[in-house]
Amino acid sequence: MIPLITDKEVANALEIAVSQVRRNLPFFNDKCQNHSGVNNFYPVCENTQWTCGFWPGEIWLSYEHTGGNEFRTAGTYWVASFLNRIKRKIEVDHHDMGFLYTPSCVAAYKLTGDPSAKKAALMAANQLLGRFQPVGEFIQAWGELGAKENYRYIIDCLLNLPLLYWAGRETRDEKFGDIAFRHMATCLKYSIRDDGSTFHTVFMNPNTGEFDHGETCQGYSDTSSWTRGQAWAVYGAALSYRYTRNPEYADVFERVLAYYLNHLPDDLIPYWDLIFTGGDVEPKDSSSASIVVCGLLEMSRFVSNEQSKTYTDLARQTLFSLWSNYSVKDPQVSNGLVLHGTYSKKSPYNTCTSEGVDECVSWGDYFYLEGLTRLSKDWEPYW
Ligand code: GLY
Repeated sequence: MIPLITDKEVANALEIAVSQVRRNLPFFNDKCQNHSGVNNFYPVCENTQWTCGFWPGEIWLSYEHTGGNEFRTAGTYWVASFLNRIKRKIEVDHHDMGFLYTPSCVAAYKLTGDPSAKKAALMAANQLLGRFQPVGEFIQAWGELGAKENYRYIIDCLLNLPLLYWAGRETRDEKFGDIAFRHMATCLKYSIRDDGSTFHTVFMNPNTGEFDHGETCQGYSDTSSWTRGQAWAVYGAALSYRYTRNPEYADVFERVLAYYLNHLPDDLIPYWDLIFTGGDVEPKDSSSASIVVCGLLEMSRFVSNEQSKTYTDLARQTLFSLWSNYSVKDPQVSNGLVLHGTYSKKSPYNTCTSEGVDECVSWGDYFYLEGLTRLSKDWEPYW
């Protein structure tokens, strides 16, 4: 039985993680962290990847913990960079506006009231609306808009929807929520299989708007469940529930969570695809565990006391496992926060290339820090 992480251990884990973020500030001051490590060290990259919002997100979480000016100055630098990115439309022709602009700019706006952060995030939300396909009612993930070979959405988009909900509340313009609800309805109808597992990507028919087929990109096969996609579904359902209180979303949360939990190895940290369980010689994806922790803690706020305790205990057990066996405690080993994440692994049946296998991954670090933060105080979510 895995112990529940105690408040003292949470404080210790936060101290170590925030120290690592502070140590990284001079290395990633005007350059981003690459999406994943190479031998557990992140190289630098330009602000062009879908993952570039997570490093600023870690900076803002660290600012919340310490109130340190060094974090506020660094976070403010990234607001300017993200405003520039959306103004100049640098690598924004895809759906990942929420991943990019929520932890960087919505966070900055909520914490400091910076109007340029609000402006950047609203521009990003409008950019995201532009990818909505009325035929089929979904937000197109990648590639040329409307092209048959790109006429699909992916489960990951559930984490982009909170940017729309937030923009709707800020502007009182219903179009943002309306598109989010329509995308959500399509996603729930076709991406979640009867057993609670998920398709990573779903192709729609551009002429009729009907479901065409499900296909994996980063999962093992079209019929398996890519672990991180399942984790995005867990957290995404919880976040949409918070904004809407739609009972359908709570129901989906339970179903996708149950499938995830039933496919975990003993230490609660999943392999990169849920087809692999105990005893497999396959890399893990620790980032999925951190994402699910955030989903559990989000949903724990809206359920009965008994259910809330179940979710919180599970989150504490998972964080105990992450903290004791996966987190970085020695900066000589890695400049990340958590080891053993997997970005993409090639299988005989998927369409991705292997990248960032068994490495620290930028979003894994961010959600680990968010999960610890959620346990340390009554946290106002960036999402
Ligand atoms: N959103 C892409 C991924 O989770 O790898």
